[in-house]
Amino acid sequence: ALGSEMAPAGVALQATVLCLLAWAGLATGDRVYVHPFHLLFYPKSTCIQLEKPDLETPKEPTFTPVPIQAKSAPVDEEALRAQLVLVAEKLEAEDRLRAAEVGMMANFMGFRMYKMLSEAWVAAGAAVLSPTALFGTLASFYLGALDPTARQLQSFLGAPGEDQGCTSRLDGHRVLSALQATQGLLVAQGEAGGRAPLLLSTVVGLFTAPGLRLKQSFVQGLATFAPVVLPRSLDLSSDPELAAEKIGRFLQAVTGWTTGRPLSGGRADSTLLFSTSVHFHGKMKGFSLLPGSQEFWVDNSTSVSVPMLSGTGTFQHWADVQNNFSVTRVPLGESSCLLLIQPHCASDLDRVSALVFHHDFLARMKNLSPRAIHLTMPQLELRGSYDLQDLLARAKLPTLLGADANLGRISDGDLRVGEVVNSLLFELKADEEEQPAESAQQPSMSEALEVTLSSPFLFAIYEKDSGALHFLGRVDNPLNVV
Ligand SMILES: *[C@@H]1O[C@H](CO)[C@@H](O)[C@H](O)[C@H]1NC(C)=O
Ligand SMILES: *[C@@H]1O[C@H](CO)[C@@H](O)[C@H](O)[C@H]1NC(C)=O
Repeated sequence: ALGSEMAPAGVALQATVLCLLAWAGLATGDRVYVHPFHLLFYPKSTCIQLEKPDLETPKEPTFTPVPIQAKSAPVDEEALRAQLVLVAEKLEAEDRLRAAEVGMMANFMGFRMYKMLSEAWVAAGAAVLSPTALFGTLASFYLGALDPTARQLQSFLGAPGEDQGCTSRLDGHRVLSALQATQGLLVAQGEAGGRAPLLLSTVVGLFTAPGLRLKQSFVQGLATFAPVVLPRSLDLSSDPELAAEKIGRFLQAVTGWTTGRPLSGGRADSTLLFSTSVHFHGKMKGFSLLPGSQEFWVDNSTSVSVPMLSGTGTFQHWADVQNNFSVTRVPLGESSCLLLIQPHCASDLDRVSALVFHHDFLARMKNLSPRAIHLTMPQLELRGSYDLQDLLARAKLPTLLGADANLGRISDGDLRVGEVVNSLLFELKADEEEQPAESAQQPSMSEALEVTLSSPFLFAIYEKDSGALHFLGRVDNPLNVV
C-alpha cells in the first residue's frame, strides 16, 4: 500500500506504520474501528473542490524574500503567549480530538528520533529534543510537497494514506492547526492557576538563495505552527559557513534568545535552509533557588557545582522497583507538567532512557500516585539543536528532502533543501515571586519523601489533554551545555 516509489525505505516505514497503528489501536480500545487520524484528513467538501477540473488555474502569487540585512522587528514573546492562550480558549471538542491525534503522532516520531539522536549525543552534557517542533517542521514540508514526496512524508508523519484518494490524505493546514492547539493547551493556565505563565515561542526562518521565489500560500500556511515566519534571502553558496554565521546573528537579534547552534553551514548548492527555533521557559510554583551552589554527581567520581531549586508539595510519584527508576511529576500549568525520571543507579541512564522513552511511555506513567515530597533539582538552562536531514539519514530516508524531492508548493524555482534545523532554548526556574503553596497543601517536612536529582536524570514536558510530549531531554551534566 505504500507505493513503489518508496521501495528503498519501504520496510522501515512499514514497520513504523504497523507499530503506530497497533499503538493507536490500543488507545482506542474496543470502539468501532475508525482510522485513528481521520479527523486530520481532507474533508470531502475540500476534496470535491480540489478534484474539480480547474478551467483557468490562476498562477499562484510568489515573492522573493527580503535580504537578511533588512530591518526586522524583535519577537514579542508575551504577545505570542497571549495568542496561544486565546487559541486554547477557543478550542471545540473536535479540535481537541485533532490535537490528541497530532499529539500521538508527534510522540511516536519523537521517541523514534530521540533514539537516533541519543546515538549522536554520547559526548554531550545535556540534550533536549522537541517532538512537537520536529513534527511541525516535517508537517511544514508536507504542506509544501506534492506527490510522491507528499505521500512519503505522510507515511513518515505516521498516517499512511491507504490509497483511498483525497479523503485519506492529510490536510496539512489541519495538521498545523492541531499542532498549534497542542501548544495552546501547554501554556493555558486556567482560572485558578495563579502560576507564572509558561512561555513557548516558535519562530521559523526560511533562508533562501537570492532570486528564489517562494509561494505566498506556503509561507502564510506556516503561521499556525510558528506565529513568526521570517523569509530572508542571502548568499548561501560562496561561503556557507559565513552564511550560517549571519543567520545565527540574525536569529539571535530578532528573537533575543540564544539557542543551540542554529545552522552549521551546509553544502554550497543549497537554495533553502529551514530553521525552527523554539524557546520554552517554565517557572516552578512553590520552588525556590537554594543559596549558593550544590553538588551534582556527573558520575561516581566527578561532581560539579550548580544552582539548584527545591520545594515541598504533594506530587505524583512512582518508584519502579523492577526496573530501578523513579518518576516524579510536578505540575506546571492547568494540564501541563514536568516529568522527572531518575535511575536508582546513576550509571544506568542509558538503559532507563531506552526503556522509558518508548511508545508505551504514557501507559507507564499511569502508575504514579500522590506523595508528600521534598524535591531538589538543578535549575535548567539547556540549549540544543539537531539537523533533520541528519535524522532522516539515520532513519534510512536520506533522500526524503533531497535533490529530487517534489516541493512544488514551496517554490517553482530551483529548490534544493540544505539544513533543516530545530534549535532550542529550554529553561526551568523557580517561581520566586510566588509565596509557597497554601499551608493546607504543605505536608510537614518530616513525612515528606526526599527526592534529590543530584545525578544524571531524564525529563519530559507533558500536556495531558492532547497527550503531547513537548520536550524530551536528558541531563548528564547541567553545566556542560552544547
Ligand atoms: C535492579 O536492581 C537490582 C538490585 O541492584 C538488580 O538485582 C536488578 O537486576 C536491577 N534490575 C534491572 C532491570 O537492572
Ligand atoms: C564507577 O562507575 C564505573 C562506570 O560507570 C564503574 O565501572 C565503577 O565500578 C564505578 N565505581 C564505583 C566505586 O562504584
